[in-house]
Amino acid sequence: MLAAQAQVLPIAPEHTIVPDKVRAAIDVLINGEHFRHTGDPKLPLLWYLRDVLRLTGTKIAGELASSGADLVLVAGKPVPAAGVTIEQLAGREVLTVEGLAANDGTLHPLQQAFIDEDAIGCGYCTPGWLISGVALLQRKPQPTDDDIDQLPNVCRCGCQTRVRRAIKRAAAGKANVA
Ligand code: FES
Repeated sequence: MLAAQAQVLPIAPEHTIVPDKVRAAIDVLINGEHFRHTGDPKLPLLWYLRDVLRLTGTKIAGELASSGADLVLVAGKPVPAAGVTIEQLAGREVLTVEGLAANDGTLHPLQQAFIDEDAIGCGYCTPGWLISGVALLQRKPQPTDDDIDQLPNVCRCGCQTRVRRAIKRAAAGKANVA
C-alpha cells in the first residue's frame, strides 16, 4: 500500500539544487607568512587579521576609536585595513604591527623609542602610530614636527608630544635597542 503511494515527483527547475562553485583561492603574504583565503573575497583585511588570523594588534578605527588605528603597510605604504579587501591584496605583501619586531623578538627601533619616551597611554592608537611612523621614517629618515603632525593618527590619551619625541628619537638612532 505504502509502496503504491510513493511516487517520484518531477523536480521543477527552480527547485534544482545547484552547489556553490568552488571559490578561487586568494594567496596573501602577511608578516612574511603565506596564507590562502578561500572565503569571501570581499572580506575586509581588518576582519581577516582580527577574526581569522587572530592578529588583533590592528585596531578598529572610527568615531569612538583612534583615527589611523587600523593602518597596516601594503607594499610599504600605510593603508587602512578596514578599507581594503582580501581580493585586492592577492599577491601583495602586508605588514602589521605584529610583524615589526625581528624574528628573535628584538623590537623595531621605533617600538623601542615608544617605550623609551613613554609614548603609550592606553595603547589603542599605538599600533597605528607605529605603522605610520615606520612608513614616515622610510620615506623621510629625518622627519620634522610638521611631517609627524601631518600623519593621520590621533591619540585620545594626549600622547602626541611624546609620540613626536619617539619618532624623532628613532630617527636619531637613539632608541635603546639592546
Ligand atoms: Fe590611548 Fe593613544 S588613544 S594611547
